[in-house]
Amino acid sequence: MPETISFARGAPSADLLPVDAVKLAAETALTEDATRALSYGTGIGHPGLCEWIGRRHGGVDPARVMVTNGSLEAGWMLFSALLAPGDEVVVEQPSYDRTLLMLDKLGVDRIGIPLEADGIEVEGLEQALADGHRPKLVHIIPNFHNPAGCTLSEAKRRRLVELSAEHGFWIFEDDPYREVRFGGEPLVTMLELAEGTDAKVVHASSFSKTVGPGVRVGYLIGPEAEIKTLAKGASETYISPNMLAESIVLELCRSGALDRNIEFVNESLAERRDAVVLELGKQIPEAEFVVPGGGYFLWLDLAEGTDTRAMLAPAKDEGVAFVAGPDFMIEGGSNSMRLSFAPVPPGDVGEGIARLARALATVRA
Ligand SMILES: Cc1ncc(COP(=O)(O)O)c(C=O)c1O
Repeated sequence: MPETISFARGAPSADLLPVDAVKLAAETALTEDATRALSYGTGIGHPGLCEWIGRRHGGVDPARVMVTNGSLEAGWMLFSALLAPGDEVVVEQPSYDRTLLMLDKLGVDRIGIPLEADGIEVEGLEQALADGHRPKLVHIIPNFHNPAGCTLSEAKRRRLVELSAEHGFWIFEDDPYREVRFGGEPLVTMLELAEGTDAKVVHASSFSKTVGPGVRVGYLIGPEAEIKTLAKGASETYISPNMLAESIVLELCRSGALDRNIEFVNESLAERRDAVVLELGKQIPEAEFVVPGGGYFLWLDLAEGTDTRAMLAPAKDEGVAFVAGPDFMIEGGSNSMRLSFAPVPPGDVGEGIARLARALATVRA
């Protein structure tokens, strides 16, 4: 059994990385696409990958796509272009910790709206608008939320798009987990729902979860004018994103290796999720959570008064790691924690949750 069983990182264990497929794709990319792969590109990234992404999203014009060095960078570029200090931005509560930090760094006023089992509490947003708030951007993680595990319902997607058209705010659809789905059909994206309306949606996604986070290949899809401006900014900052990585990813996409890997990863992750859910039921029955239909994360709400930050040191002594709830909140969250099932092989889950239960017992004693 490992010295530390870590439910902390939003990244898969090494056995889920497609090493052989990437080796093969790199060989092909450097045989068939060597000049593009090893030369400077432009701010939009690899044009072939922009085209492939456009097709994957149901025939989006490639002029509306730009590829970036991961989707976090894509978000940063959009936020910096769009937002000024003092602007209001709606964030889900809880939300991705890095997004909260980036927005804080930009000096914007973050308005937190709670999450429910089917996504953001839309009535809360409507109330904020009725109270006179004028958000410039609403940040939404629609599928298999990080950290909450929930998925935004279709009805709420439709309402958010209507509200964007009515009030003129941007929706940033931060969607890296869309294809990390353990069953069922994907819901319509807000990007698709915005077609032909006045709603303003920029969609971000990534190959971090479907290939591996080390490739650092993500992308944005949005209105052509905004993509053009962002691509110009990219070329002025770093000339082009990593063309070699994008050429390899494109080869994975074209050859079918990406889809085979998605199938493998999803099966493995579903097994990990099931193991964690089962052990939590047995060993920490007080924990309440949404069972995610995909992605990496479970968000545990523990008994009122539990201090998950105070659990970090005893958890370390026990040999288990997690992220405490307040990291994902503007305020509060002290009786919550995020568990990532992606890095923990099913055989280690029972022991990992037992260690967590012992750490919890120490803060109760
Ligand atoms: C909601 C969300 N957005 C963005 C990212 C960043 O992904 P990337 O590796 O594409 O930069 C992550 C990564 O965990 C995430 O969970």
